[in-house]
Amino acid sequence: MWIEELRLRDFRNYGEITLRPHRGMNLFFGQNGSGKTNLLEAAHYCALGKSHRTNADREVVRRGCPMGACSVRVAHADGSRSEVTLRLAPEEHNKKQVWIDRKRAARLADLMGHLGCVIFSPEDLSLVREGPAVRRRLMDMFISQLSPRYFIALQRYSQALESRNALLRDARREGALRGELMTPYEELMSQAAGIILPERARIMEQLSALAAEKYAAIAGREGEDFSLRYLPCMAVESFSPEKMAEKLAQRREEEVFRGSTGFGPHREDLEFTLRGREMKPFASQGQVRTAALAVRLAQLALFTRQRGESPVLLLDDVMSELDKTRRARLLEEISGVQTFVTCTDESDLDDFTDKRTWQVSLDGEACGCVRQTRAGAPEEAVPEDPEPDFS
Ligand SMILES: Nc1ncnc2c1ncn2[C@@H]1O[C@H](COP(=O)(O)OP(=O)(O)O)[C@@H](O)[C@H]1O
Ligand SMILES: [Mg+2]
Repeated sequence: MWIEELRLRDFRNYGEITLRPHRGMNLFFGQNGSGKTNLLEAAHYCALGKSHRTNADREVVRRGCPMGACSVRVAHADGSRSEVTLRLAPEEHNKKQVWIDRKRAARLADLMGHLGCVIFSPEDLSLVREGPAVRRRLMDMFISQLSPRYFIALQRYSQALESRNALLRDARREGALRGELMTPYEELMSQAAGIILPERARIMEQLSALAAEKYAAIAGREGEDFSLRYLPCMAVESFSPEKMAEKLAQRREEEVFRGSTGFGPHREDLEFTLRGREMKPFASQGQVRTAALAVRLAQLALFTRQRGESPVLLLDDVMSELDKTRRARLLEEISGVQTFVTCTDESDLDDFTDKRTWQVSLDGEACGCVRQTRAGAPEEAVPEDPEPDFS
């Protein structure tokens, strides 16, 4: 799939812009702070309904504006098209609205599947080095795109978890635990976990196999047996919602003190290993980089295999970070994939001849401007441009 048109309105430092990206490689260059990452972030919003770098919609709406919007028209491999608009009004009751093909969608989950994206950024090094939250995010963002029921289960799970935590805090304050109030939430959590755990296990196993291949290909002869290991909170083969609910109930007393739930999918992790050992304590910078790149390339491949078309690849500031081998490897893998690359220098991607280039800069009011500087090889004609509905 590829984005034929990307529109932003009052999104980050943009007033109103419309871009017609190339079906292949698009290079966005410009000084730091000009708004390059913001463009990728808008695409990410259209794919997943959220940013890759913040959980607060408020941050992405242009300062001083009550609402912001972003929109894409996506062309699919089978010739169909979809149009997705996200309208963000953090101060309003109805904070986030999704429009698909000009119709208001009932749920955020309806967004999943229209635009697929894989994002690769320098922060990916934290996948190996930092705490489990970044790795759960990796799983959630990726699996949600392949499985809307997973996304729905996640939403249900976290709502129920929040309620259970609130009850734990009440119990701490009041010095009395009311277990009968917790039971329904624990059941909801356990039912959702019944979807989350098997989906994580299934998709991470496939991702791990592909990531191992990619790692070996990048590392060359010193292939080091890289793998991802999903660490579930309960054995997936013998999991049942009843067992999980029972376990949650057993933990109530001790959790009152903490005021939070210490067990469940929200505490799980994904382990990065080399030759069976966890990478975090010993991996070199080079191994960490290779691992991060291998995982992103594996996502690209798995998405393409499962969906029969490739997602859009967003490469934020990574080209200058990669050495020659990794860079060549990356460019090899992305032929036929629509790619948005950001960098500070136009010449950063000189080895890639067929591309569309865009200069990103700021006008006098610090408002972002994007100007096409090179068109790339012509593509087949695109249809007349329907106006996405920002209202
Ligand atoms: N909500 C917002 N409203 C207006 N400007 C914003 C908002 N959020 C970020 N910015 C501006 O966006 C710019 C950063 O954009 P970014 O895409 O991260 O830059 P880069 O080109 O370095 O990737 C900064 O100038 C910042 O002040
Ligand atoms: Mg940036």
